Amino acid sequence: MASTPPHLPASDSLATRARDHLWMPFTRHSVYEDGGQVPVIVRGDGAYVWDEAGRRYLDGLSGLYTVQLGHGRTEIGEAMARQAAELAFFPIWSYAHPRAIELAERLAHLAPGDLNRVFFTSGGGEAVESAWKLAKQYFKLVGQPTRHKVISRSVAYHGTTQGALSITGIPYAKQPFEPLVPSSMRVPNTNAYRAPEELRDDEKAFGRWAADRIEEAIVFEGAETVAAVFLEPVQNAGGCFPPPPGYLERVREICDRHGVLMVADETITAFGRIGDTFAMSRFGVTPDIITCAKGMTSGYAPMGAMIASDRLFEPFRHGSAMFLHGFTWSGHPVGAAAALASLDIFEREGIHAHVRENEEGFRRTLERLHDLPIVGDVRGAGYFFAVELVQDKAQRLTLSDEQAERVLRGYLSTALFDLGLYCRADDRGDPIVQLSPPLIIGQSEFDEIEQILRTVLTEAWNRL
Ligand SMILES: Cc1ncc(COP(=O)(O)O)c(C=O)c1O
Repeated sequence: MASTPPHLPASDSLATRARDHLWMPFTRHSVYEDGGQVPVIVRGDGAYVWDEAGRRYLDGLSGLYTVQLGHGRTEIGEAMARQAAELAFFPIWSYAHPRAIELAERLAHLAPGDLNRVFFTSGGGEAVESAWKLAKQYFKLVGQPTRHKVISRSVAYHGTTQGALSITGIPYAKQPFEPLVPSSMRVPNTNAYRAPEELRDDEKAFGRWAADRIEEAIVFEGAETVAAVFLEPVQNAGGCFPPPPGYLERVREICDRHGVLMVADETITAFGRIGDTFAMSRFGVTPDIITCAKGMTSGYAPMGAMIASDRLFEPFRHGSAMFLHGFTWSGHPVGAAAALASLDIFEREGIHAHVRENEEGFRRTLERLHDLPIVGDVRGAGYFFAVELVQDKAQRLTLSDEQAERVLRGYLSTALFDLGLYCRADDRGDPIVQLSPPLIIGQSEFDEIEQILRTVLTEAWNRL
């Protein structure tokens, strides 16, 4: 009886109850109102999940870029249960508890450079929001009160709260909520496939060009008004844009030259996704702030963090200064226990090394799809790849809005799922299919992903 609310007939399926009462984020509910069935996932084990009818799916997106270590890790659940029994909740507002302390210490050791100060949040958007607010308050405390603006990159997604959404570079996601927090502006991202034609064959020149657009924006706005540049080491929205060689180094130099903070939004790229705890460490560049979330607990609990450098904490060490900001759930003991247990497994099982050893195999397997006429580009890093779809390969011509609607939304997502692959078909930028699987998989799962994509993309071409 416990699972069926008393006011509903027991015969109603979970899908029907979801349709009637669950308000799903970023979801066209008309699909379900018009007879579509809400997919209900009931169980997971390793890289696979099962729906209520017992069908199995390869989790090609790690849930939502979260389940790094795969599903069904009872060890993490047990650590959480122990913590709930010992101390389920206590805030870290002027107090502390062991798990938050241990996790902060561990993240500080894992983070690059002198990023030693960990401010916990419950997700990525809150971490981004926190970073912008810290940048503003920090500059006021150090006597540069006009620095408040932020620069971020086109098509980048940084969250949905009003500050994080303002930093986001996806116009249609912002329009319903305008006016947002003022003072954020966009520069080009590092989509090499769509680079200006004269730079397409020279990655370094493209990287230099893209970084210089940031400097141009800083100078144009007046450096004394700019607080921070936000960027993902490998940009998610638009489809896994890695940094061209030299790009992050140059952005670092530009930020230093103009006294602007460099914020690496590692909500997706941290915790092994790119083969290291933080992608910025792998790329050898130290930002002033890292924002992270998702994979920190391998998805077993909601948890995020903003990790700031010693320099940014310094003015808060004295007198009456305090960061006037926080969340009830900051540093939740059960979430922190999940994160610590997850980090233990990362170390014990050598997950970063596994990703580094296999990333080229993953790339090569996906690159086999280049023989299909609809596949324009395969790109990414670590266990984070996108396949871009085009209607004309030679001209790199993207799908029309009508084709994207009909084929991407109307066919691809469902067809991939029906064949047993959960992943993302996305047209926030140019249309892509995105893969971000659990970090434990190897060649046999890469092959399975390629086979399903091949079948569905072949049919998608026929339907264009
Ligand atoms: C780069 C980046 N920043 C921020 C966010 C927002 O994170 P959350 O949904 O946990 O608020 C996301 C979510 O996907 C993200 O990819």
